[in-house]
Amino acid sequence: MNISKSSESFTFTPENLARAEKIVAKYPEGRQASAVLPLLDMAQRQSGNWLPQAALDYVADYLQMPPIRVYEVASFYTMFNLKPVGEHFVQVCTTTPCWLRGSDGIVGACKKKLGIGPGESTADGKFTVVEVECMGACVNAPMVQINDDYYEDLSPELMEKILDDLAAGRKPPPGSQTGRRGSCAQNGPTSLKEKAKSDA
Ligand code: FES
Repeated sequence: MNISKSSESFTFTPENLARAEKIVAKYPEGRQASAVLPLLDMAQRQSGNWLPQAALDYVADYLQMPPIRVYEVASFYTMFNLKPVGEHFVQVCTTTPCWLRGSDGIVGACKKKLGIGPGESTADGKFTVVEVECMGACVNAPMVQINDDYYEDLSPELMEKILDDLAAGRKPPPGSQTGRRGSCAQNGPTSLKEKAKSDA
């Protein structure tokens, strides 16, 4: 495990402290360690999408946990970043369904537009690209997650456009990039085509 120390100190903002109190109060007395995941998530958001050691130690102290137990949790879940990442954190799913639907092309589009491969960040700190395992949106493969949003039904061209928009300070609408509704078959619905009686 490689935890970065580059941030010397960390404390929750007053707003996050108030939220932390509410979260901890949901658990029985003496079980405050159960709040470690939401508190780490809050600490990560406050620190610019990564967890310096000071934040891990702060959460451990806040929850009265041995720091090593917090390090174990933070290093187990891939949603936690233990090193600084770019402003736009691009997670490209390359598990089998996305791979069969062209995730190699999505990784290629990142390389072409940003000049970086998986595990790398752009020099201006704007983008980090990583490869991840299935994110549960296989029916709309291939897909990526960028910060909190899913972008689905991608092609290399659509991915390039998303990256262009982000680089220009625009936020492209998340979800299916081909306009598909939910997980409906690409050629339209194949079942439940008649309106429910209550809709008629
Ligand atoms: S395989 Fe990519 S979301 Fe499941």
